[in-house]
Amino acid sequence: MTIDSIDTVTVLGAGSMGHGITEVVALAGYDVTMRDIEEDIVQDGYEDIEWSLDKLDEKGLIDQEPEEVLDRISTTVDLEDAVTGADMVIEAAPEQMDLKKDIFGDLDEMADEDALLASNTSSLSITEIASATDRPDKVVGLHFFNPPVQMDLVEVIYGDETTDATAEQAYEFIESIDKTPIYVRKDVQGFVVNTVLGPFSGEAAWMVSEGLAEIKEADASMTQRGYPMGPFELSDMTGIDIGYHVRKEAGMPIPPIVQEKVDADELGQKTGKGYYDYEDGDGADYE
Ligand code: 3HC
Repeated sequence: MTIDSIDTVTVLGAGSMGHGITEVVALAGYDVTMRDIEEDIVQDGYEDIEWSLDKLDEKGLIDQEPEEVLDRISTTVDLEDAVTGADMVIEAAPEQMDLKKDIFGDLDEMADEDALLASNTSSLSITEIASATDRPDKVVGLHFFNPPVQMDLVEVIYGDETTDATAEQAYEFIESIDKTPIYVRKDVQGFVVNTVLGPFSGEAAWMVSEGLAEIKEADASMTQRGYPMGPFELSDMTGIDIGYHVRKEAGMPIPPIVQEKVDADELGQKTGKGYYDYEDGDGADYE
């Protein structure tokens, strides 16, 4: 079910989060434009959405035809085309402050005056991102979790200048896409979830780097206690580069095993190999 104040949504980014957010927004009935900087990236993201919709359809988890949902999605590489006329823009670009500020500077010039401007940043300051615009009152954090189509929670984060009207509109929007919003009223690094999850993955990576535990043991120790995934399987799913950039932007030391994986471009499921091998091996089979 859609809300009255929002008809059209633009998602900037077609990677894991960008295409997943595009999919959930389209599933809720909104018209969505998904934009990334290169055609190939946009095409890969679109194909991932097709795959996901087919999977949900096969399992009877959606009550509409995949084609109907796809008809609500358009794609482009042109930022101005993507943003013009959108009631809401959700940025899901890589986790680098300079890049996000550049994007929000462009949005300030191109987006409609009343548009809601949201960032899906994992941990960067909403206040600082919003400072790239002359309308920080309209900027809010909307932190989705991976995979967006399966994860219910979304953090709605206030920057220092975000008004209640903006945060409430964002909250209502998240409810309209059938997700559960929670407010994060202080713009603290990592917000709530990643403040807790950071050490979960980080400490495990330090232990393995120092030879104190094996990857499979560390993962099994958590799943045996009822967690849905261990820290290494989770990093493979979210992308090892994501946690790497979060730590780097925060000025935190990088565990050697994380650095090795990033240097080798073994970033997890999306590259076919990370802590586990998804192409030639058994994937995250550690129980
Ligand atoms: N669309 C549709 N289907 C998908 C999919 C997608 N995008 N991604 C995976 N699937 C499919 C799989 O292919 C598999 O299909 P199969 O049954 O045919 O083999 C199926 O979904 C697995 O899902 P299930 O619900 O059956 O399995 P689980 O019960 O294991 O649940 C899970 C999967 C919900 C991902 C669960 O393992 C989980 O909750 N894991 C933790 C995820 C998590 O914590 N995410 C947050 C990460 S942190 C983050 O994102 C923050 C950011 O800032 C870094």
